[in-house]
Amino acid sequence: MRCGVDIGARSVEVLLHDGSDVVDYSIGDSLRDPRGNAEALFMEVLERNGLKAGDLVSVIATGYGRNYFPYSTGTVSEIICHARGVAHLFPNARSVIDIGGQDSKIIRLENGMPVDFSMNDRCAAGTGRFIEMAGDLLGIPLEEMDRVTRDGDGTVEISTMCAVFAESEIIGLLQGGAGKGRILRGVFRSVAARTLGMAGGTELMPPLVFTGGVAGNPGVVRALARETGMDILVPPEPRITGALGAALTL
Ligand SMILES: Nc1ncnc2c1ncn2[C@@H]1O[C@H](COP(=O)(O)OP(=O)(O)OP(=O)(O)O)[C@@H](O)[C@H]1O
Ligand SMILES: [Mg+2]
Repeated sequence: MRCGVDIGARSVEVLLHDGSDVVDYSIGDSLRDPRGNAEALFMEVLERNGLKAGDLVSVIATGYGRNYFPYSTGTVSEIICHARGVAHLFPNARSVIDIGGQDSKIIRLENGMPVDFSMNDRCAAGTGRFIEMAGDLLGIPLEEMDRVTRDGDGTVEISTMCAVFAESEIIGLLQGGAGKGRILRGVFRSVAARTLGMAGGTELMPPLVFTGGVAGNPGVVRALARETGMDILVPPEPRITGALGAALTL
């Protein structure tokens, strides 16, 4: 049995793979104590499957907290793990967009191998954190966002490029009477535009796969489809591709 552990800024994933199939996985929070949470989740998944750490052939850690996981037998960069996980699920994929809690990445694949990537880890705009901040201001939890943005049309323009200033812009829009659906659609559009804006020279080619927690937000999937003009493929559980790619690394 192999194990992949993805310790991100917002969530931790632990996944078991037996060489041909995913055997089990769990997703937890990484907030405040990423290392402690990752260890607890790892133990929980092992116990549930009647395993001990010593039974595992490999434990590969990835994500920004990968160097702090005491049970790892190796670490691999997020770019490699996301590319490997996506290529396993979608062998024909040529581009990956991963939007997590704190960063976003665009990866170009050729024959399942990463050949180019861009990463934004400096700016909160264009990440899940920005969407959560907007949700807090609007009083809309993540689970409600699809319903609020699905019906109706029209968006407001979020003109500022900076998450800090966007906060006051959103407050101003709310006070000015712009509807919450329009504001949230504007937020999604700005996240999509921001993500594509940081692609630099990394060209997007279909089939395009969208991963990370933000891919669980259908409103952002719609906004990205509109901005790219491409169909967007989303894995059934978009948060586990990094851990899957790690588990597939020997
Ligand atoms: N149920 C949900 N519906 C919609 N969006 C969600 C849901 N759960 C999480 N998200 C979004 O996913 C984001 C976290 O994504 P993810 O778990 O991929 O982050 P991470 O891998 O820990 O972060 P990073 O890759 O930046 O280190 C949250 O900020 C939130 O916007
Ligand atoms: Mg991540």
